Amino acid sequence: MLDVRDLHAGYGEARVLHGISLTVEPGQVHALLGRNGMGKTTLVRAMMGLAAPHVTAGEVRLGATRLTGLKPHLIARAGVALVPQGRRVFASLTVMEHLTMLKPAQARGGWTVARVMQAFPRLAERRQHRGNQLSGGERQMLAVGRALMADPAFILMDEPSEGLAPVMVQALEGVVALLRDEGLGVLLVEQNLYSALAVADRVSVMEGGVIVHAASRADSPTELLTRFLGVH
Ligand SMILES: Nc1ncnc2c1ncn2[C@@H]1O[C@H](COP(=O)(O)OP(=O)(O)OP(=O)(O)O)[C@@H](O)[C@H]1O
Ligand SMILES: [Mg+2]
Repeated sequence: MLDVRDLHAGYGEARVLHGISLTVEPGQVHALLGRNGMGKTTLVRAMMGLAAPHVTAGEVRLGATRLTGLKPHLIARAGVALVPQGRRVFASLTVMEHLTMLKPAQARGGWTVARVMQAFPRLAERRQHRGNQLSGGERQMLAVGRALMADPAFILMDEPSEGLAPVMVQALEGVVALLRDEGLGVLLVEQNLYSALAVADRVSVMEGGVIVHAASRADSPTELLTRFLGVH
């Protein structure tokens, strides 16, 4: 499993995460909820070993392997992939070019272009389209497909439903469920409470860089979560 233990991180003098602990299990969806600016992206970036933020204490482990301190490409090779907030699809590259850009260092026996196309038939139809010709939903599917090409065991998805039409949000929930059923562990960062709850096995809420609620889906009543998130 993917284990975050008492992680502290920030940017320069600014401390953002104050001791985050959470676990992502294979074949499960762990929804991480929280309002704007609470530290969600900071956490997933710290988990991926990206240059900013700076981890000051604590660690992330993948089974017996300590990931904290490793370079992002080694964390990716160990089996963790990030679907970044805002999707980061290239305007001038085609769908196919995005999917074949990275050659997986070691195939865990999983994802190929063919399988990604099968999982996202929409991408198959658009394989020669460039990033700037895709809808928001298609771009999000492509960002997920690109992450899968690294053949991860765990996938961190940072607000994938942001800015998507309801029908695309629903399609995305289907994708998350598919990944979970494939045995991947998913950390699903969301502000969209209802979308997250549709697929979550476990729910955590982050506020001001600390986890203020962590429980199974069954023990995370909607009324409680809406109070944390200030939504109705
Ligand atoms: N590169 C950075 N340099 C300095 N401060 C940053 C940087 N990125 C984020 N922060 C600050 O860290 C805090 C947490 O931001 P973060 O992006 O992790 O929040 P978030 O929960 O992902 O919010 P959102 O839901 O809006 O994406 C905020 O106060 C933000 O201003
Ligand atoms: Mg964010």
